[in-house]
Amino acid sequence: MTAIGQPLSRVDAVRKVTGTATFAAEVDVANVVYAVIVGSSGATGSTAVDITAAKAAPGVLAVLTADNVPKLPAASKKASTLDRLIHVFQDTTVHFADCPVALVVADTIERAHHAVSLVTVTAKAGAAPAAELGTQLASAYAPKTAGPREPADTTRGNVEEGLAKASVKHEAVYTTPIENHHPMEMHATIAVWQGDDRLQLYDSTQGIFGVRNRIAQIFGIPKENVRVTNHFVGGGFGSKGSPWSHVALAALAAKVTGRAVKLMVTRPHMFSLTGHRPATSQKLVIGADAQGRFTAIQHDVISETSRIDEFAEPSALQTRFLYSCPNVTTSHRLVRLDIPTPTFTRAPGEATGTFALESAVDEVAFALKLDPLAIRLKNHSIKDEQNDKPYSSKELLACYTQGAERFGWGRRKLAPRSMREGRELVGYGVATAVYHALQQPAAARATRKGDGTFLVQSGTQDIGTGTYTIMTQIAADALGVTVDQVVFELGDTTLPETPVSGGSWTASSTGSAVKGACEALVAKMALEPSNQGEMFAEHKTTPDQENQGKHAMYSHGACFVEVRVDEDLGTVRVARVVGAYAAGKILNPKTATSQYYGGLVWGIGMALHEHVARDPRTGRVVTRDLADYHLPVNADVPAIDVIMVPEVDTVVNPLGVKGVGEIGITGVAGAIANAIFHATGKRVRDLPITLDKLLEESRA
Ligand code: MOS
Repeated sequence: MTAIGQPLSRVDAVRKVTGTATFAAEVDVANVVYAVIVGSSGATGSTAVDITAAKAAPGVLAVLTADNVPKLPAASKKASTLDRLIHVFQDTTVHFADCPVALVVADTIERAHHAVSLVTVTAKAGAAPAAELGTQLASAYAPKTAGPREPADTTRGNVEEGLAKASVKHEAVYTTPIENHHPMEMHATIAVWQGDDRLQLYDSTQGIFGVRNRIAQIFGIPKENVRVTNHFVGGGFGSKGSPWSHVALAALAAKVTGRAVKLMVTRPHMFSLTGHRPATSQKLVIGADAQGRFTAIQHDVISETSRIDEFAEPSALQTRFLYSCPNVTTSHRLVRLDIPTPTFTRAPGEATGTFALESAVDEVAFALKLDPLAIRLKNHSIKDEQNDKPYSSKELLACYTQGAERFGWGRRKLAPRSMREGRELVGYGVATAVYHALQQPAAARATRKGDGTFLVQSGTQDIGTGTYTIMTQIAADALGVTVDQVVFELGDTTLPETPVSGGSWTASSTGSAVKGACEALVAKMALEPSNQGEMFAEHKTTPDQENQGKHAMYSHGACFVEVRVDEDLGTVRVARVVGAYAAGKILNPKTATSQYYGGLVWGIGMALHEHVARDPRTGRVVTRDLADYHLPVNADVPAIDVIMVPEVDTVVNPLGVKGVGEIGITGVAGAIANAIFHATGKRVRDLPITLDKLLEESRA
């Protein structure tokens, strides 16, 4: 029996439930002092900061502002496309509300917060802020890329000609609001300088090497002089994918005070200082013939970015290949607003893009009186038509079939408002889920200890996904031993380098490196059978360029949802969810199921609850805590049924894995919107679907 494929419980489970797993802010550093960020009140203009009273407050060691910090010219230069510009008081310009303008350092966290209350920030008022995408669409411009590397625009065939042949033409605009990541563990950094040019960081991050490189660049020291450690992360979802201002501010405060400095970002500041999913406005045009075959698809995306940095939510990427259609055009545009820079948020692009696309497909099915699942089957693509490449594997048809059967899709009546139970309208909805399968270069080391056990190490992160566990399983199989003979270590930049834990690529990237290192060690042991001492091997893997170039590589799925809508009150309850996914080899069905659950629950939040609201007059976030920013709680989450459809992929990587971290959130909001339409006959195209929108439309 191999370890891969077993539902092994997390190898770090006992440490987590007994509280002995140490997160960044919990590392026991001697004589640590505390830093708290002061943000701007306004969103534009500049500030003058009066720190006289704060400096005199008990326990205060320093108050940093633009008037007294050293110049760090590299702070305003990005090191890579994954980086964001960092605010470390190099000037007094305000770029968004809550922009860092001062940092208080004190001997206790209470005294630091007290001193923050004594800082006076005077705004030199700038222009009235533009903080809402919907009012600024006319200023949209074309970015160079959508996401880090895809072209912003694509065209194949001719959409006008395709629409001319269509029996049905659907055109509508779908919008999604700002959403926030809010991992349970808030962002936190402890910074300790050793001398002038060596820095130790304990940081809650999805990418220790990215933090190392960026902070070294900002402080002008060799990257080898920065060590970042991080053994447990309580969620990231993209917000911890790149270092933000607080990491550099902690290091700066430690340098100025000569003390170890701990900076924990507050929950209210996490709405502004650690990234967000940008609002989008997406136009979909779909033409279909009388049988429901698509003759043309157009998907034009406008999303928001900040004044100082660029992030384009790549919401139309899946529209380029997901369905078979000869005429497809897509575009991405950006609008600059007086807001913080958005960033990657779980399934960046696909989460928002599949809401719009899958809603539009449902609207076409309704216009043609076709079953929504049938129209998806009719337009199933057998190759990536945009790039003319075969899929490395694609078990989407099995996802539709197995999901539909488990859900009981056959019981669905075609007409909206035709299913009812008591005072509740019942609706069934479906949507396609999709996410790319990517791989990055990664390295690992495997050591046979003198006692015959194995230590396997890689500088990756476990962001709550189960990295410790699946790497232990991969190592055990490659070494030909049981999982209890293997210890896997991660989270230290002194270990072999791996990429950021994002893009659902940790299993494929770090997993391939771990497999390679263990196989190299086995080969070495075979060459020296008489050597029973400590022995190690290191291995670096890169994606197989030839295979990657020849194939389109994606995970697919189908999400089925039943909703219950109270006709009088407009309240929506998600009653059942069935998600069927084909994502290559599943390394551990238990941890993979948890990933799918997490994605599906977030999809419910995206559909029905989540919305960061800004005051349009000031640009300030008004939903500043988890009471005002609504999330699904247990009462909002029904029984979720996940089907892992077997999928063999001999091309994607030697492990055959595609990653499961992000696909779970894709499609869900579309499936829920479609189910609500089926229940009520009301089409809501603006997320979240709150009861006021359902009641408002019924009055109209
Ligand atoms: Mo994920 S949004 O790539 O951390």
